[in-house]
Amino acid sequence: RVLDATGLIALPGLVDLHTHLREPGREDAETVESGSRAAALGGYTAVCAMANTSPVADTAGVVEQVWRLGRDAGLVDVQPIGAVTVGLKGEHMAELGAMADSAANVRIFSDDGFCVADPKMMRRALEYVKAFDGVIAQHAEEPALTAGAQMHEGEFSSQLGLAGWPAVAEEAIIARDCLLTGHVGSRLHVCHVSTAGSVEILRWAKSKGWRVTAEVCPHHLLLTDERATTYDPVNKVNPPLRTDTDIEALRAGLAEGVIDVVATDHAPHSSEDKDCEWAAARPGMLGLQTALSIVVKTMVEPGLLDWDGVAERMSRRPARIAGLDGHGLDPAPGVPANLTLIDPAASWTVVPNELASLSRNTPYAQMTFPATVRATFLRGEATVLEGKAQK
Ligand code: NCD
Ligand code: ZN
Ligand code: ZN
Repeated sequence: RVLDATGLIALPGLVDLHTHLREPGREDAETVESGSRAAALGGYTAVCAMANTSPVADTAGVVEQVWRLGRDAGLVDVQPIGAVTVGLKGEHMAELGAMADSAANVRIFSDDGFCVADPKMMRRALEYVKAFDGVIAQHAEEPALTAGAQMHEGEFSSQLGLAGWPAVAEEAIIARDCLLTGHVGSRLHVCHVSTAGSVEILRWAKSKGWRVTAEVCPHHLLLTDERATTYDPVNKVNPPLRTDTDIEALRAGLAEGVIDVVATDHAPHSSEDKDCEWAAARPGMLGLQTALSIVVKTMVEPGLLDWDGVAERMSRRPARIAGLDGHGLDPAPGVPANLTLIDPAASWTVVPNELASLSRNTPYAQMTFPATVRATFLRGEATVLEGKAQK
């Protein structure tokens, strides 16, 4: 079979460090299979599945279940992330070693909110994963400063009378955990960085030689808190949409490499959880099928990144952070490749009902974006051809 790739760009298969697949527990919002399909259509060949499922992915049993479901779906490699602690109040450190040694081969462990509240526990977690070169992924949300917050704290939150989530709630905890990581000599990955101040702190931490990496989400590169004035909860997300100043700093930080990767934080929610008033709606938005196009619009078109830079930030570096062998590499001759073929000259309009996710919470409905994914190959097998999923 010959595929005419004239005018297309070949990238190593994209790797997402931050995907919520909702299985087990909320299969009405997403399953491993439906999320895998969205990922393949978005050009991904591997996704890291976040641990906040029900039950939480804090045992070898649950991470192996997610890993098997991913293998059976066969559309992308699903690499489970484990939760750091167990218990209603995070009383116990989870068996991180058992998750690492399981068939799921877990290397990234997500702070479920308890380490952020307790620096002693964060220090222990960093020490524990150091033994097997694991990574702690932290969500950069200081609990006391974000309690009850509904959106970014700024001009629009005052105007709307909604409780604000200040930039300092993110920055204070990033600074603390960079310091702890440097002290322990372990690895930290900062999820969904959203403020200009966070970029400055990360630049400083990296200048010290500490092993800190960071991700930015497409929505934080494109959308601002002004979206909240529509009161449409599709714009509600953690951390919240920020300001134009933050967008500029995040784009510059990603171009410079202070922010290592783009991660989607694909967060599907059922209409029951999203189509309600702002205060009651769950935070989070879909991301897998729009990520590449938004990176092209916000980074490639303005000349901040070239296509090799896209490969670096959406494939090679995330693969390295997650320890995903065989991903993020340009295919060697004779080796079945993980790759995606992009049409840079095409554009498309987002129609929520046409997305592969079981949920519809995209903030990009009816928006037109550059670049389409024409084909995706997982170890040489087409998972997407002519923009259609093959399973
Ligand atoms: C995420 C979710 O829905 O699970 N929501 C979000 O707004 N990002 C949780 C998270 O990553 O913080
Ligand atoms: Zn988060
Ligand atoms: Zn998330």
